[in-house]
Amino acid sequence: GRQRQRLLLENAEQLVLVCGRREPCLRREGAAGLAVLRGASLVVGLDGCIKAVGQADVIRDQFLEATFERIIDCSGKCVLPGLVDAHTHPVWAGDRVHEFAMKLAGASYMEIHQAGGGIHFTVEHTRKATEDELFTTFQHRLERMLRAGSTLVECKSGYGLNLETELKMLRVIERAKKSMDIGISSTYCGAHAVPKGKTATEATDDIINNHLPKLKELKLSGEIHVNNIDVFCEKGVFDLESTRRILQAGKDIGLQINFHGDELHPMKSAELGAELGARAISHLEEVSDEGIVAMARAKCAAVLLPTTAYMLRLKQPQARKMLEEGVIVALGSDFNPNAYCFSMPMVMHLACVNMKMSMNEALAAATINAAYALGKSDTHGSLEVGKQGDLLIINSSRLNLK
Ligand code: NIG
Ligand code: FE
Repeated sequence: GRQRQRLLLENAEQLVLVCGRREPCLRREGAAGLAVLRGASLVVGLDGCIKAVGQADVIRDQFLEATFERIIDCSGKCVLPGLVDAHTHPVWAGDRVHEFAMKLAGASYMEIHQAGGGIHFTVEHTRKATEDELFTTFQHRLERMLRAGSTLVECKSGYGLNLETELKMLRVIERAKKSMDIGISSTYCGAHAVPKGKTATEATDDIINNHLPKLKELKLSGEIHVNNIDVFCEKGVFDLESTRRILQAGKDIGLQINFHGDELHPMKSAELGAELGARAISHLEEVSDEGIVAMARAKCAAVLLPTTAYMLRLKQPQARKMLEEGVIVALGSDFNPNAYCFSMPMVMHLACVNMKMSMNEALAAATINAAYALGKSDTHGSLEVGKQGDLLIINSSRLNLK
């Protein structure tokens, strides 16, 4: 046609589509899902969506009379879908470098947490910070994620624990949703820890009776639109019953269930998530065999976080077993004060080396499967006509994926 288009990427050496508009790919067959075109071009329309993708000469003929705001010669380069980071805690104040020293000296994550550090330390500083202070550091972090290739990022609250500060964090995330060139899926994580001075049951009641109704109200008034609900389901934090109550109440107000489970102890989190219709469960270092089967059956994504096992010297999550059982495996950076990693390429690298995933599996886990974990695989995570034109141009002529 003669229409005006936003962007033409011309003649890429390799253009990796990744597959699966609705159903995530790469359950089992590593390579099968990653369709690769050679000598290919791609057109993005003024609405930001992909208009066409195919062989360079075919696209040239098809768009002979079109005009483009921008044309990028991709010869000698490769094109990939933008990376999706399915798990981050990016809004907070107060670094925890002193705790790194404690960990190197042998302290465990839970020992530090139970002594009032860890998440509690970050909560103290985040409660004191102003909304603008939090927004400024958050903005810098998102820019660094974008520069590392992430175009869609899940962002959690969870360093407030009281309603006031949880809402402050969610407002900061909402502001970034509107002002930043990066996609955001927001998660209410008010059950990230039991706040000092409360029991887990009191905290659970507070969330269900006060926090969630407020989120519902703010969604209706258009002020804050939260996408997911999260709980840290862990021994000494929220047990299975409290987790169930919170997640169900979140689901009842329209949030997608996406929570921390089976990280440090086997909790039957995976079984619970499958039963409640969770979109995704993160961590899963201690998941049971039954939990893996239940997740596969329920099409509940496993968001694996290689930086956590690395930092905390945990046993690795069983990525191979999950893939073999047909679980939808996704990846996330888990960026937080304890695991300071912005980079999904680094996460994919760790997934290959430490969790024995193939390069193809890691790429699918960091694109289409991560988008699935956020309920966005209809619009994100692969280069297909009609989807969002989120893409990366790699200064290399050869990906040699396997
Ligand atoms: O995913 N496990 C709980 N939450 C985070 C850590 C957050 C923190 O330590 O501040 C995680 O690793
Ligand atoms: Fe986390």
